[in-house]
Amino acid sequence: MSPPQTVELHTPGGATRIVFEPALPFADLAGAAFDLIVADSNTVALLDRSNGNAVVVVPPGEACKRSRVLVELLAAFAAHRLTRDSVVAAFGGGAVTDLVALAASLYMRGIRVVLVPTSLLAMVDAAIGGKTGIDLGGIKNLVGSFYPATEVRIRSGLITSLSQREYRSGLAEVIKAALLADPHLLELLERNRAAVLARDDAVVARVVRAAVQVKIDVVARDFRETGVRAHLNLGHTFAHALEAAAGLGTWTHGEAVAWGIARAMYLGCEVVSTDRRWARRVLRLLAAYGYAVDPASVDPAAIVAAMQLDKKRRKGGLRFVLQTGQHTTKVHTAPEAAVLRALQARGEPQGERMV
Ligand code: GLY
Repeated sequence: MSPPQTVELHTPGGATRIVFEPALPFADLAGAAFDLIVADSNTVALLDRSNGNAVVVVPPGEACKRSRVLVELLAAFAAHRLTRDSVVAAFGGGAVTDLVALAASLYMRGIRVVLVPTSLLAMVDAAIGGKTGIDLGGIKNLVGSFYPATEVRIRSGLITSLSQREYRSGLAEVIKAALLADPHLLELLERNRAAVLARDDAVVARVVRAAVQVKIDVVARDFRETGVRAHLNLGHTFAHALEAAAGLGTWTHGEAVAWGIARAMYLGCEVVSTDRRWARRVLRLLAAYGYAVDPASVDPAAIVAAMQLDKKRRKGGLRFVLQTGQHTTKVHTAPEAAVLRALQARGEPQGERMV
């Protein structure tokens, strides 16, 4: 077995060691030196409990990102007598890693946290970069902090345990990373579609490694999202609005992100003269991976109304992450009429570049 690879992510909030351990089974987590492991009611079944590590179980998925669960978790930290030098581990998808990292940032003003993401989405996005959070009043991640984990363990071998829908949900964030900054990852995804979708171990490990590197590079430049980190939200203004307008849970986050990236291409063609060849390449890639790229069967006016509630909205109108061409990304406002047209556009944008 090849030794794990380690990369350091340095931020103004502290350093995170990111360890790639593709082949390791995850039951061995219980052998590590953690004072408490937090899992959800699904992932707990995958832990080896034989050596007596203390484990706290939280609800799975978004249901754990509630203020009540946060307070109960903090009480559990106290009940297990965690101290300032304790290490807590989070073992689950992005909701669990968001929750546990937030609790770790608050408990005694900050204790060490190790994240072991179990979903592809958490491996390539949620668990990397120090964003923590819970939902409040129906708004996702309204309460949170920037608090880098001490360590993130990326075990792409865990991906075999995901449903195909969950896997494809994470894959949308991988595609996003390729579109933002990695021409090699983009080609790998274009040329190896069958192997990627079949979760070939070696291909998945390469894809995950590359997508994580994109995220590391962005976060290292802009930890607190004052600039370039916002580019990671490519497709997300559309996606969050669709998820809300369609009813949470109707679309997976990744399905919505892929659809949102397609909509961002149409909007980009209209408001930032996106290179049509790039827009066509992106739309083809998304369609090849089976994502919905056509207008959603949700009232466009309801989607725009949901955008007005987006917490990333600023004074001065709706803001979108758009691309003018290959790996060239900018944040731009757009008038509502253009957004409505982008929501209803279909087919391949024609020509080369609108002037
Ligand atoms: N998920 C976007 C970010 O970490 O900034």
